[in-house]
Amino acid sequence: MNKVIAIANQKGGVGKTTTAINLAASLAATKRRTLLIDLDPQGNATTATGVPVETIQTLYSHYFEKTPIKECIQKTSDLYDVIPGGEELIALEVAIRNDGNQGFLSSSIKELGDLYDYTIIDTPPTLNQLTIEGLFCASGTLIPLQCEYYSLEGVTGLMSTIETLSNKSMTTNRVLGIVRTMVDMRNNLAKEVSEELEKHFPSLVFNTLIPRNVKLAEAPSHGVSGIKYMPNSYGAKAYLALAGELIRRIEYV
Ligand SMILES: Nc1ncnc2c1ncn2[C@@H]1O[C@H](COP(=O)(O)OP(=O)(O)OP(=O)(O)O)[C@@H](O)[C@H]1O
Ligand SMILES: [Mg+2]
Repeated sequence: MNKVIAIANQKGGVGKTTTAINLAASLAATKRRTLLIDLDPQGNATTATGVPVETIQTLYSHYFEKTPIKECIQKTSDLYDVIPGGEELIALEVAIRNDGNQGFLSSSIKELGDLYDYTIIDTPPTLNQLTIEGLFCASGTLIPLQCEYYSLEGVTGLMSTIETLSNKSMTTNRVLGIVRTMVDMRNNLAKEVSEELEKHFPSLVFNTLIPRNVKLAEAPSHGVSGIKYMPNSYGAKAYLALAGELIRRIEYV
């Protein structure tokens, strides 16, 4: 069964895209057939996959030009596939809202049937219609979070949005977990916030900490994941461990 996982946090720059890319690469490295969907008009995940811009067909083409969703899928030089995103998605967001076409992405993903074991969706740093589409079709959400003073603000909002959607039986989405990103344990505040998180969300916080690691930040400019760029880096190893933890949470229940 295709397990669809949204990576979401309406706060900007918390490591959503880095998590989406490296988790997709890690899952693929464990032989799971993996698709990454870039739902962000910023297109950062798309850049990081290194797919040539000229050949890109986004969900915009699928929605407006009726391009079959399978034709939007591209191979990456990592082991996963991608449906790229970019600026066109701004128009898609407006159209889905104006047309009252909520749930469009869910039906599109169903067309993919059992082609993939995992679909990872990178969402933009807002709770707009694109993010809602992602939350809607996901069976689980992963929340990357930087251990800073205001980091929890917004997360509770996101959690209650997911709960509201679930309560209305619009989705089976549930929060799979919180991932602490860009961790630097020499920073006392980060340590404090991290401990608070463990106290408040003991079953949700992933044990794996993603360290601040420059290799993860460098990899996108080479059009690859951190896993492919520098497999022995701390960052790559952390994302591989996170994928292991995620697999245990999802597949061994
Ligand atoms: N573990 C890490 N170590 C070092 N740099 C990181 C790490 N994670 C993310 N970064 C860098 O931090 C910046 C923000 O990360 P990223 O783009 O993944 O966040 P985001 O939540 O997707 O941002 P946005 O909200 O704009 O979509 C990027 O420059 C990225 O390379
Ligand atoms: Mg991003």
